Amino acid sequence: MRSVFSMAAVAGMALTSFVSAAPIESRDSPAFPLSDGFPNPSGAQILQIQQRAGGTLPNGKGAPPVSEDGLISLRLIALNELFEVAFFTELYQNLTTKVPGYDLGNGHQFILDAIEAVVAQEELHALNANGGLKANGAEPILPCKYSFPVSNFKDAIALAATFTDVVLGTLQDVQFKFAASGDINNVRGIGSVVGQEGEQEGFYRLLQSKKPSALPFLTTSVRDFAFTAIQGFTVPGSCPNIDTIKLTTFQPLTVLTTLSAQSTTAEFSFDKTKAGTDDYSTLSLVYINQQNVPIVEKLTVVGTYGNTVKVTAYFPYSEFELNGLTIAAIAKGNSFANADEVAKAAIFGPGLIEIN
Ligand SMILES: *[C@@H]1O[C@H](CO)[C@@H](O)[C@H](O)[C@H]1NC(C)=O
Repeated sequence: MRSVFSMAAVAGMALTSFVSAAPIESRDSPAFPLSDGFPNPSGAQILQIQQRAGGTLPNGKGAPPVSEDGLISLRLIALNELFEVAFFTELYQNLTTKVPGYDLGNGHQFILDAIEAVVAQEELHALNANGGLKANGAEPILPCKYSFPVSNFKDAIALAATFTDVVLGTLQDVQFKFAASGDINNVRGIGSVVGQEGEQEGFYRLLQSKKPSALPFLTTSVRDFAFTAIQGFTVPGSCPNIDTIKLTTFQPLTVLTTLSAQSTTAEFSFDKTKAGTDDYSTLSLVYINQQNVPIVEKLTVVGTYGNTVKVTAYFPYSEFELNGLTIAAIAKGNSFANADEVAKAAIFGPGLIEIN
């Protein structure tokens, strides 16, 4: 058995030994359908995907119809899993062809094998969500074209850890909403994926030499925040039927300060033409972290540069142990009982902050 120490050694090596001898490969965001037929694999291709995934699609028959709100969750999950398939497929290709920044030296094969399984597992997650849509007579979600802001393994893993954290928060919301809409037959399966994504998260954290488990209670999120975040990685206008997903897309919030494990004043920016108000005193900077009541901080305007408004707000790291994922948003109002209320009032967000 591989000990945790040799694992950590593999991890440490993975992130420090970039030998970039391979020629520069011209890149295309993975073109769908993939070589294994995804997103429309044949029966024989599904068997192969299952082998790479080390497990199968759920094989139960005749799940009861899903509510309208439940269908929104399935659509969002499909959109997200398609994005994850694209990301990990491209990461797998970069590792396979050892493009500069992706030659890991010792430990390369171990990580390649892990990512190969992740690709297949994400494919099955996507097929399961789209299968649920089809079973309800709803249109399956189609893949977009994607663009990822990373060009080395270290940054790719940091990004994977961040969006997996957003998923881990959002699936909490999906479970809550499935339960609220009476779609209880979907709650167990989502729970199985929460754990699965949590296993992935522990691996991505270990690869960054972080403690595998970030927090006692992971940060929650809301569907709209994930919906907006995913669109940050899609080529605008390239998602064939994203309009069938009736969720809110917020305006972009830029986190200008690189935050670390200390309380500080943080700088943010947004586009003044998207604020819907000139009176910024009606807006607050809100942080969602763990299972706590959203933290509300006052905005101070630093200045306006063209259409860009720069503001500062206190980031109370020490007061609240703001580790793991923190979701920042600018919202109208100054008191929010929970993440749902933040999403209802949010204008700009989500700013994704990861500490420790
Ligand atoms: C793969 O490598 C290319 C070339 O450096 C880069 O543009 C792309 O973002 C990388 N993708 C991932 C998922 O690491």
